[in-house]
Amino acid sequence: MFANQRLGASADQDSARAHLLLNFTDLSNFDDRPIPMMVRGDGCEVIDASGRRYLDGLSGLFCTNLGHAHGAEVGAAAQQQLSEMVYSPNWSLTHPTAVHLAERLTTAAEPLGMTRLFLTSGGGEAVEAAWKLVRQWHIANGQPQRRKAIARDLAYHGTSLGALSFTGLDDCREPFLPLPIPVSFVSNTNAYRHPDGANEAAFTKSLLDEIHRTIIREGADEIAMLIAEPVQNSGGAFTPPAGYWSGLRELCDRYGILLVADETISAFGRVGEWFGSMRFAARPDLITFAKGATAGHAPLGGVLMNDRVAEPFATGAVTYMHGLTFSGHPLSTAIALKVMDIYDREQVFENVRALEGYFENRLQELRANPLVGDIRGAGFFWAIELVKDRETREMFDEAEANWLLRDELSGHMDELGLLCRLDDRGEPVIQLSPPLVSGAKEIDRMVSIIGEATDRAYKSWAKDRARLIKSAGRRPKINVA
Ligand SMILES: Cc1ncc(COP(=O)(O)O)c(C=O)c1O
Repeated sequence: MFANQRLGASADQDSARAHLLLNFTDLSNFDDRPIPMMVRGDGCEVIDASGRRYLDGLSGLFCTNLGHAHGAEVGAAAQQQLSEMVYSPNWSLTHPTAVHLAERLTTAAEPLGMTRLFLTSGGGEAVEAAWKLVRQWHIANGQPQRRKAIARDLAYHGTSLGALSFTGLDDCREPFLPLPIPVSFVSNTNAYRHPDGANEAAFTKSLLDEIHRTIIREGADEIAMLIAEPVQNSGGAFTPPAGYWSGLRELCDRYGILLVADETISAFGRVGEWFGSMRFAARPDLITFAKGATAGHAPLGGVLMNDRVAEPFATGAVTYMHGLTFSGHPLSTAIALKVMDIYDREQVFENVRALEGYFENRLQELRANPLVGDIRGAGFFWAIELVKDRETREMFDEAEANWLLRDELSGHMDELGLLCRLDDRGEPVIQLSPPLVSGAKEIDRMVSIIGEATDRAYKSWAKDRARLIKSAGRRPKINVA
């Protein structure tokens, strides 16, 4: 079986090189080696064209919350929907699975006061849809001058031009400047690198003071929206300190700003609850979500909003001037409903809550390696920051980080069979976000592979660091999603 796939794979390799453009990928990385090609999933593993198995330590791209075990059941729901009706827009009319999903999600988000849903095909689209709701809401409330936003350093909120405006990553923004929405960036919740990070109360105060100063500087009545993730992914699983989200709520209320929680990753059990906002006592006005909504079985995203935001749209005072052909595609909404059933039936979020402590304790064992500086995260969403010197928290410079992630760890992870993200958008981190159905066995295997890979990297580093960095070349970013 795999022999055939291998033959197929070499033709596919030529074809991929000739015709495919990959997301955020330097294709010259693959001049002298194959493009990794995944052909099958099995539980918490994926299998490449040569038959090698990898543990899916990043749930694809924070998507496969159920792993690869429920495709047939979800497929049956998809087949039923397609045999009944292949497509209906959600423009001036709707269809049952969109309605049922709206009911289901507003019920799940009831404790957060969410009462209405707009559907998109993904996370960036949801962020842009939220921005347009926010803008029109302010216009309806007689404040059309509110055109600015506040977002956080290093945060990733998508790549379409509107969503990119909120993304605090210079490399992503640079080619497309100027971006359409004026955004001020404030510190994220990286306690490890913040001067007040060791004292939680002082840290929270310092972060909120900075936001307050930013609001005053930019003009309190010019700011429309503040957007933040409950746990920020980019930079490495930054959890909020106590009091942070209630402080955001208080500032937004005081200055008439709408608060958006971007839960593209943190919703649907990633941190053990339906929404990360529940875990971290956030009370946003709008919630954007995607990925886990279908556990990766189909593209879907959306924006949930509370009554206050929905009011002018629901009463007909304002028509929402936004639409997407595939907003709430029946295939995706039918799949999302089936995935919600499975989340409930298999007690998937309970599994995350039950194993979070075990996961964290096992990760802490990695501190035996001197390269490991910080371990942070929540639920099944963790990052390990790598440092040159643990005592001083000295950071790797760019060439060193490149060597460490691309030339060392990427190859070791590949050889040892773990798909994870080796990210250097902030300081170098290993990011883990496994399927929410993972058990102790998968956690043990992840920790053991990372332990072995970081030990090998440390040995190379300790042995000949000058030579290694000098000879650091560009290698495939197989594990860099
Ligand atoms: C927090 C956050 N917002 C938005 C996005 C963009 O989502 P999409 O790629 O579906 O547009 C992502 C993608 O990873 C994300 O993590």
